[in-house]
Amino acid sequence: MTNTHKLLEVDDLSVKFKTPDGDVTAVNGLSFDLERGQTFGIVGESGSGKSQSMLAIMGLLASNGYATGRVRFNGQDLLAMKPDALNRIRGNRVAMIFQDPMTSLNPYLTVERQMTEVLELHKGLTRKSALSLAIATLEQVRIPDAARRIRMYPHEFSGGMRQRIMIAMALLCQPDLLIADEPTTALDVTVQAQTMTLLRDLQRDFGTAIVLITHDLGVVAGICDKVMVLYGGRIMEQGTAENIFYEPTHPYTLGLLGAVPKLDHEGERLVAIPGVPPNMARLPAGCPFSERCTFAMERCTTDRPPLELAAGHPGVLRACHKAPGEIEAKAQEVLP
Ligand SMILES: Nc1ncnc2c1ncn2[C@@H]1O[C@H](COP(=O)(O)OP(=O)(O)O)[C@@H](O)[C@H]1O
Ligand code: SF4
Ligand SMILES: [Mg+2]
Repeated sequence: MTNTHKLLEVDDLSVKFKTPDGDVTAVNGLSFDLERGQTFGIVGESGSGKSQSMLAIMGLLASNGYATGRVRFNGQDLLAMKPDALNRIRGNRVAMIFQDPMTSLNPYLTVERQMTEVLELHKGLTRKSALSLAIATLEQVRIPDAARRIRMYPHEFSGGMRQRIMIAMALLCQPDLLIADEPTTALDVTVQAQTMTLLRDLQRDFGTAIVLITHDLGVVAGICDKVMVLYGGRIMEQGTAENIFYEPTHPYTLGLLGAVPKLDHEGERLVAIPGVPPNMARLPAGCPFSERCTFAMERCTTDRPPLELAAGHPGVLRACHKAPGEIEAKAQEVLP
């Protein structure tokens, strides 16, 4: 395996689902790169295509779904890969964690059994060395008294600890890429913050690249290098975390930032985005966000804005008919 390729190169990825009412396009023309050890955030409300884009990359779409475009992992074309080769990559090089740890943990097996099994299967370790590596990994995710606790069943742990056990499971084979799909959504705010700190530390120590999927733009600020904001399966804005967080140039990003709770004013919220998240089967003809956008003009409902470099913001891509300056002026007015 050469290291001349980027870790992940996604080019014009689309995902369609066959439904009784015709094809529904859930993801439309995503492109992005991820270097080794970087963290990439995918942000958007529920239904914007975040999960399906990553499931497509991993060959895990539902049977009525199919992906088009190009996805290269270490230079290998994942979309063209045979199922058993893809399975090997999934077990070894790429790991996924989800909102609900119980989707990845088996409730009927002890944590020890689940962890050692993975290592025996994928790494060919003996039971004894598998056990000591499993305990060490639990210690890395800060499970206290890991040598004793490893003999427990998943339900004997708190929600936050279960989440950390799932992260430990995902890291066992030292993957190059960890895809974390809303990993902290079900947790309370304190445990959320601890989990994000843990992910950041693990990435620093192991150099694992992370794709972090979240509906909460506030979560990506401290951990992501680059961020992609999705709406209706399309990229609305893409840039560094600083760009997106401190100099948003797209109305939807601004809306997401407005919906972020202000931590220094407990309980107080800025304006949330009016209306409901997109229905992929009934998107407007023009800009997907036009029905909810407070900046919308006549042409927004008929002409789809192309994804283009944002004037005055090097490296930022945006899809909007309004000039970046108008959005920035508003951002300065409403954001803290
Ligand atoms: N099996 C399916 N059949 C038809 N449409 C689907 C299927 N799975 C997902 N979708 C569509 O894909 C859209 C995006 O889903 P998803 O990626 O899960 O959103 P999220 O951003 O919340 O992760 C959904 O709103 C739905 O319209
Ligand atoms: S193109 Fe129009 S509707 Fe879409 S985000 Fe920009 S201003 Fe709003
Ligand atoms: Mg999702």
